[in-house]
Amino acid sequence: MGFPECRPRRLRRNETIRRMVRETRLSVDDLVYPLFAIAGKGIRREVPSMPGVFNLSVENLVKEAREAARLGIPAVLLFGIPARKDPLGKDAYSDRGIVQTAVRAIKDAVPDLIVITDVCLCEYTSHGHCGVLKGREVDNDATLELLAASAVSHARAGADVVAPSDMMDGRVGVIRMALDAEGGQGVSILSYAAKYAGAFYGPFREAAGSAPSFGDRRSYQMDPPNVREAMREVALDISEGADIVMVKPALSYLDVVCRVRDAFDVPVAAYSVSGEYAMVKAASKLGWIDGDRAMMEILVSIRRAGADLIVTYAAKDAARALGR
Ligand code: PBG
Repeated sequence: MGFPECRPRRLRRNETIRRMVRETRLSVDDLVYPLFAIAGKGIRREVPSMPGVFNLSVENLVKEAREAARLGIPAVLLFGIPARKDPLGKDAYSDRGIVQTAVRAIKDAVPDLIVITDVCLCEYTSHGHCGVLKGREVDNDATLELLAASAVSHARAGADVVAPSDMMDGRVGVIRMALDAEGGQGVSILSYAAKYAGAFYGPFREAAGSAPSFGDRRSYQMDPPNVREAMREVALDISEGADIVMVKPALSYLDVVCRVRDAFDVPVAAYSVSGEYAMVKAASKLGWIDGDRAMMEILVSIRRAGADLIVTYAAKDAARALGR
């Protein structure tokens, strides 16, 4: 059957009918809101390349977390910017570290909000790499124990979920074993399983002061043209105990999200990263696109590709737009 019996436009005639046949729904339940905790007091500093995103000292961070919970956002993802960085990234696994302090404060104030912590060394190391160095190279196996110590320390502070983003081989298994050995059986692992080395993390690195001081991250993060390799990474992380797997970035990797969704049964997350957010904000500021609509279209496209969860800096705006 074809035209004139078939007229696809019939089901697009008005918003009510479009609403009835809509195939994909974005819900506030899908959103994870990233927050940057910075050491110090009274700090609420906007990140220049990310309008609406702030470095927040703990008391301001708690306010922001409360606001997110009030809007119905179920989870925050915490990053830490420590007072001091050193070659071994010690603040990352100190019980008095910035993230640990932030987790305790949020869990105290908003106990039902799920707190996910980013587990990586790059925000804490003086050289900005995601692991410890041996010469000019990142030493995979020496990094594992520091990542495990970070995860355990986050769990002790009250984190519900730990999210390793370093891309060292074997880290999910080592973290799972360390958590279990320390009574953290109930703490979930959201692994950044397929995390690509690319140009979309620039604004984040400005926010976290975590740009590598030499070289780049291509010896540990994935090569953008590869997708079979992503499937392998995901399979490995699941076999090591990942509860949720993430693809990052989202927008340029929707094919990866789709393939991962089809091939695996664990929940899939996608990270709409800082560069994606900044592009929309910048074009919107120039009056070149309708930023609010573009953002919602991007978020629903990530859902349509198959992501269950979306990490997005626009979570509060999206929650407001979704709340009727
Ligand atoms: C830490 C980490 C990064 C991001 C999340 N975790 C930065 C990086 O890999 O350089 C990027 C998030 C974003 O760009 O929004 N390794």
